[in-house]
Amino acid sequence: MIRGIKGIKDITPDQMPKWSVVERTAHALAHAFGFQEIRIPVFEKTELFVHSIGGNTDIVEKEMYTFPDKDGTSLTLRPEGTAGVVRAFIERGLKTYQPSRKLYYIGPMFRHERPQAGRLRQFHQFGVEFVGSSEASADVEVITLLWRFFSALELPGLSLELNSLGVLTDRQAYKKDLVSFLKTKSDRLCENCRRRLEANPLRALDCKVPHCREAMNDAPHLTDFLSPTSRDHFDRVLEGLQALAVPYSMNPRLVRGLDYYSMTTFEVSCSALGAQNAIGAGGRYNGLFETLGGVPTPAVGFAIGLDRVIIALPEAILPTPTPWVFIAAFGEKGKPAGLSLLDSLRSMQVKADTDYNASTLKTLLRSADRLEAPYVVIIGDDEVTNHQIILRNMATKEQEFHPLNTASSAILAHLHIR
Ligand code: HAM
Repeated sequence: MIRGIKGIKDITPDQMPKWSVVERTAHALAHAFGFQEIRIPVFEKTELFVHSIGGNTDIVEKEMYTFPDKDGTSLTLRPEGTAGVVRAFIERGLKTYQPSRKLYYIGPMFRHERPQAGRLRQFHQFGVEFVGSSEASADVEVITLLWRFFSALELPGLSLELNSLGVLTDRQAYKKDLVSFLKTKSDRLCENCRRRLEANPLRALDCKVPHCREAMNDAPHLTDFLSPTSRDHFDRVLEGLQALAVPYSMNPRLVRGLDYYSMTTFEVSCSALGAQNAIGAGGRYNGLFETLGGVPTPAVGFAIGLDRVIIALPEAILPTPTPWVFIAAFGEKGKPAGLSLLDSLRSMQVKADTDYNASTLKTLLRSADRLEAPYVVIIGDDEVTNHQIILRNMATKEQEFHPLNTASSAILAHLHIR
């Protein structure tokens, strides 16, 4: 037997009702907020991710699924969606139609991480990118959409944390201070943080290794280094969230694992999850368009880990299953009449099914029970002779007779009434 790959899961039919609710909510809310769907490729040239996410990040250093194409070009399965959206935006000239564009995507992403509960190698994201506005209101809109999505799904135990990374010059000033601080602690830092001390010192701020966390307790705060413009932008984001009653707290250590961020960054964690409790995150990335060869274009976005949403989703959110009918058709005349009724119900988009392996009323009813059919239509030779069908409610055992020639509309009306 050939098994699937570690950290890559099937989404089996019994899990699909949850996925359907989550994806439907994502589409509905994204549309309500004026975002349009975009579908970007699952793989791209490796350089796209190296240049956007950054060569000194965990994703690029350790987690990408990279392989050579037949002509030797290095390709990578997308570890996230922002880089592809920005590439498509520049390449397709999406800006020429509208000055600011709001795009969203839902789909699989790939990272070679150590699999554990909530951490997969193929996982799924719902992401949005608000392109073309540097206004704080755009940050507020994106964060509000993120929060409203979780609220609509009634996810428990959520907290939203915010930080500002300022602009490049703010970070340069801060980095100097941070590196001096880190040097005083270097004997207590993990190997990774020591190695990145010069190249990517900010990453030390959210290192998960306990002795690094402890050493970072009195690290300087980036928000103390913000220029008046960066500070003002951040204050307006906070005010906007307060006005819309989106609850947040500040986390001066929130730096994110991707290099393209500037200004606002945010992350939502969910206490109903285990160690992997980050359920969605994002931020502003005003420099990425230029990095990827486009004209300078401000943008802000988020991505939500849908596999984690599914874990935290309360059962109560699932809609009650739509009623359907099992057709128990038997006998020389009953069977063709039943198949014709089956077809006419399906044409009316009423869920109807049967069991082709059963040919007697007894075996058909057994199949209906096994499939937990709420309604069964009984149609044998006698029913055809009498021009009628029997509609049985399997829970109450009540039976109704309906004329054969109007059976499908009678069943439709019956299912809608109950
Ligand atoms: P990210 O923080 O790397 O951001 O990922 C966003 C979310 O994807 C995480 O909060 C988590 O829920 C989920 N996630 C990440 N890795 C895994 C995994 N291995 N297994 C399961 N879930 C995972 C981004 O990807 C940015 N592109 C977000 C963004 C959009 N920023 C601006 N626009």
